Amino acid sequence: MIRVAPSLLAADYLNIGADICRMKEAGADWLHFDVMDGSFVPNITFGSDMARRAEACGLPVDAHLMVVNPEKHIDAFAKAGVKVITVHAEAVNHLHRVLQQIRAAGCLAGVALNPATSPECLRYVLGDFDLALVMTVNPGFGGQKLIPACIDKVSEVRGMLNRAGIKAIVEVDGGVNLETAPRLVAAGADMLVAGSALYGAADAKAFIETVKRQG
Ligand code: DX5
Ligand code: ZN
Repeated sequence: MIRVAPSLLAADYLNIGADICRMKEAGADWLHFDVMDGSFVPNITFGSDMARRAEACGLPVDAHLMVVNPEKHIDAFAKAGVKVITVHAEAVNHLHRVLQQIRAAGCLAGVALNPATSPECLRYVLGDFDLALVMTVNPGFGGQKLIPACIDKVSEVRGMLNRAGIKAIVEVDGGVNLETAPRLVAAGADMLVAGSALYGAADAKAFIETVKRQG
């Protein structure tokens, strides 16, 4: 089953609640919530208080923490009621410990990989996460073009999980549109984050249905 997570980054910030409802009605599965700290990535976005409000709109919140020292923020996001907390492998010194911390807080644990990061860094934590987030752009901005080499990484991550008999979610983030989605699904992705292409689509429901049909 293919699932779609609209990225709040591309929403209309003056009508954010209505925008989340619009995506829910269009068939979105999760709400992808991009947290940026101005340090791990150049931009600054939203924090855990905002996640609590977004969660109240009724879509499971998928918090993508593009921040340094994410371990300091896990409890706050868990208390805000988010479903998934994803940290960047590049942003933590002790990935195994942080993943355990996320699960102990009652959330699904995710690991995100920047485009230049090898999937090998997942090898010794394969049983310790519920979601691998393959970044197909450099994190920090919406509206970028997908980096084609990252599609191979999606296949590699899915292959590693399959060989280990682990059913974690493979999520892809960055440059997802109606042209790239089928290639990502063919490579093994089952959760697609969509920002600018989805919010810019004339018909969000048709966009989401088309992406889901790829599975
Ligand atoms: C980028 C964010 C993405 C972004 C995707 O740093 O993690 O979630 O919103 O936006 P699009 O779909 O426009 O590439
Ligand atoms: Zn993201």
